[in-house]
Amino acid sequence: MILFHVMLFQNVAAPIRQLHRIYDQINNALTYAEGFFDILEDESQVEDITGRSSKNLKGHIELKNVDFTYPNGTQALKDVSFTIKPNRITALVGLSGAGKSTIISLLVKFYAPDSGTIWLDGHNLADCDTHELRQNIGLVLQSNHIFSGTISENIRYGDMNATDEDIIIAAKKASIHEQLFI
Ligand SMILES: Nc1ncnc2c1ncn2[C@@H]1O[C@H](COP(=O)(O)OP(=O)(O)OP(=O)(O)O)[C@@H](O)[C@H]1O
Ligand SMILES: [Mg+2]
Repeated sequence: MILFHVMLFQNVAAPIRQLHRIYDQINNALTYAEGFFDILEDESQVEDITGRSSKNLKGHIELKNVDFTYPNGTQALKDVSFTIKPNRITALVGLSGAGKSTIISLLVKFYAPDSGTIWLDGHNLADCDTHELRQNIGLVLQSNHIFSGTISENIRYGDMNATDEDIIIAAKKASIHEQLFI
């Protein structure tokens, strides 16, 4: 009888547990796949405009009466106006949730303002070439994703054509050169 019970547990319970694990994995995969296709099918709010070239950017930025509400209904910016002068270090300071990161998201055209205008060197940001604009803006937000891979690969995904020298320069600027293994 003892042998029978041991056999029963080994040969019946273990496969059931394994089936259960597979069921969990399928559920996880379905959830992730849903998010994945949401991203693929997303019709970005801000079109990829190939407009005015932003090659000779000076960086004079002016926000005029900018309102912005996130798609979920959270109003993040209300009637915001200010000027950022070129060749200066400008800091936005404010309480958590004040809208600092939101302003940065608008500047790189992840979102477009609901009303009001953002001017870049005197041109409406909405007419600027999105791709070129983003090549001219470096963005480090408080929550960042590190992809599994080497540090140099994580740096390179910002610019796939970067040479090893470019990566070393970027790493030195970010003070992580000592940890960089190519
Ligand atoms: N993706 C989002 N979807 C909906 N609401 C958001 C989103 N991101 C931010 N918010 C909301 O917009 C408002 C402004 O948030 P934002 O992240 O710009 O603030 P912040 O000034 O950068 O804050 P912190 O100092 O914490 O970084 C907050 O009320 C926040 O909850
Ligand atoms: Mg923030």
